[in-house]
Amino acid sequence: MVHKHIFLPEKKSFASFVLASQIKLTFILYIRSMKDSHNVQERIAYLSRVLEEHNHNYYVLNSPTISDRDFDMLMQELQQLEGEYPQYASPNSPTQRVGSDINHAFVQVAHTYPMLSLGNTYSMEEVAAFYQRVKQGLGDAPFEIVGELKFDGTSISLTYQDGHLLRAVTRGDGTMGDDVTRNTRTIRSIPLVLKGDDYPPFFEIRGEVLMPWSTFEKLNKEREEQEEPLFANPRNAAAGTLKLQNPATVAARGLDAYLYYMLGDNLPTDNHYDNLQRAREWGFKVSDTMRVLHNLDEIKAFIDYWDIERRNLPVATDGIVLKVASIEQQEELGYTAKSPRWAIAYKFQAEDAITRLNSVSFQVGRTGTITPVANLEPVQLSGTVVRRASLHNEDIIRSLDLHIGDMVHVEKGGEIIPKITGVEADSRPADSSPVTFVRNCPECGTPLVREEGEAAWFCPNSNHCAPQIKGRIEHFIARKAMNIDSLGPETIAQFYDRGMIHNVADLYTLTVDDVATLKQQGRKWAQNIVDSIAHSREVPFARVLFALGIRYVGETVAKRLASAIKSMDRLRDATIEQLTAIPDIGERIALSVVEYMNDIDNLLLIERLAQYGVQMSVEEKPQSTPMQNILNGASVVISGTFEHHSRDEYKALIEQYGGRNVASVSGATQYLLAGANMGPAKLEKATRLGIKIISETEFLQMIGL
Ligand code: IVH
Repeated sequence: MVHKHIFLPEKKSFASFVLASQIKLTFILYIRSMKDSHNVQERIAYLSRVLEEHNHNYYVLNSPTISDRDFDMLMQELQQLEGEYPQYASPNSPTQRVGSDINHAFVQVAHTYPMLSLGNTYSMEEVAAFYQRVKQGLGDAPFEIVGELKFDGTSISLTYQDGHLLRAVTRGDGTMGDDVTRNTRTIRSIPLVLKGDDYPPFFEIRGEVLMPWSTFEKLNKEREEQEEPLFANPRNAAAGTLKLQNPATVAARGLDAYLYYMLGDNLPTDNHYDNLQRAREWGFKVSDTMRVLHNLDEIKAFIDYWDIERRNLPVATDGIVLKVASIEQQEELGYTAKSPRWAIAYKFQAEDAITRLNSVSFQVGRTGTITPVANLEPVQLSGTVVRRASLHNEDIIRSLDLHIGDMVHVEKGGEIIPKITGVEADSRPADSSPVTFVRNCPECGTPLVREEGEAAWFCPNSNHCAPQIKGRIEHFIARKAMNIDSLGPETIAQFYDRGMIHNVADLYTLTVDDVATLKQQGRKWAQNIVDSIAHSREVPFARVLFALGIRYVGETVAKRLASAIKSMDRLRDATIEQLTAIPDIGERIALSVVEYMNDIDNLLLIERLAQYGVQMSVEEKPQSTPMQNILNGASVVISGTFEHHSRDEYKALIEQYGGRNVASVSGATQYLLAGANMGPAKLEKATRLGIKIISETEFLQMIGL
């Protein structure tokens, strides 16, 4: 064998000895690299398994067994290994749950089994008729019904092959749907790799992708702050999110999924209920509200129970689904052209209350949009007292033919903000007057304008209308904009009302003495404010652009514009054609940017901000100039949480200044960048190995920031 020849050289001539040693070394290195890469592959598999287990505990079982930070550390290690050894990275790796920034158009795929809808019923009589039809259809044979919640999201069909998620497709038209696999991988309650080994080699499982109420409310609040259109309900939010082009945004939106229907040739049992219990063991989120029901009384009790209890669920539901449990009996009953004969949906009544419309007020947003709000006689609805309802726009007021004093129907339905759905016109007071939309701004009196194709009226006096100015300053200081966190709306209002500031540029002229006049013994407070205003000069250009509050330029649009256009000067000169050539920038946004840049007041404001040192261009990515190579290849571990930059920003800074960010502490680590609440084990290891531990401030000083 070759080995023998290498290790036991027979002739001891010098030349043959050297040759043999070289071959031996190459061989050892080869074996070592084999061993290393084998270890890497095993480690990747191990980390993937462990992370998936923790995902399942957290997102499906709702009982995490690891701290967020430890989870992040494992994830970072996996990301790093996959980056270095892409040959071992699987498309179903837990790292794919964070999504990638690459845009992909959706490919249309045909469903193996058409995705049908369910027949709807609205009363117990109709449910009884369904029960009767089933009974008859089965020739009076005994049968069981499975009662389930009807989740109000968007349906999804998942295909698994050998326990791995192969494809995820939306309902589409029922025959063809969009391939949304990449986005679906980011939904943490959907298993990418199944647990156990008793699943069919190939099967489909269908369910509902949902946005939980809490996530939906948070998302809409953020959108409201940024004056982006709100989602009407969690269903629209879930459907819209699943069809986003950017999986990283999908990942950040926190979708959830319940599975309720399995299809395939080798299902584990002949019973729908039992199959789903097995699916739960494989890692799917199957609702534990499912029940086997034996007669109409049990069905009625199930419906009555959930008609009340659904209000306490974390996700939206709009009814109950009743399914024949035996799959053989399902097949016997068959299908109509549109829906199965073995299942039916009972839809809950939307909750409705009647109350009096006392008045309508008109609010002015920071971009000047006028929102009509109905002031109602307080009324109890779905467990809360409703006093106000959004009327959205003039067209809605017209279509309702709303009069002051009308008794109106208020509904909560899937929407978080109650809406007026109808008017009791018969009980209208004789002298009531119709609600008219204001024609002048309720705050500054300027005639309102309504652009073609837009439903909203707005006040064009953007630079002299108080709520718009205050709103814009509040937006400017927000966390995702200039992050001047020592200021809040009340202080802004005080500054403005006392004439200390008239626009965002004035913030940079405030002195400690000025600010301190607002508060007795407020020098420390004032210093803090002035410092954080000064600090905002470091905020990158994309966020400055967002902070200006240009209509339709939200956080994402600002990032797109900044990375394509690079500087405020170039943005000022950009034409509609140049702007619309940027991905995701449509005509509406382009027009708004050009209009903003054509306004002399805005140009003066930008000019002043530039003079005060606010970032007006994208910092070019690091070239390895000596100045930027300060860290000189040093490996830096980041741990804990930080005040001035996020962990991701620190990672970027380390790379930018010539260092290497590594996930775990080892003998080769040079610095441990230690934030608040860092793990004691890491600290202990770093101390033991004599690694230099540096604070956030020390690090920033080190790189000269
Ligand atoms: S079973 C052939 N079960 O309701 C039957 N559907 O109109 C397939 N839905 O498109 C559906 N919760 O999006 C089923 N527990 C549940 C459901 C459910 C919600 C949705 C689903 C479907 C629609 C039917």
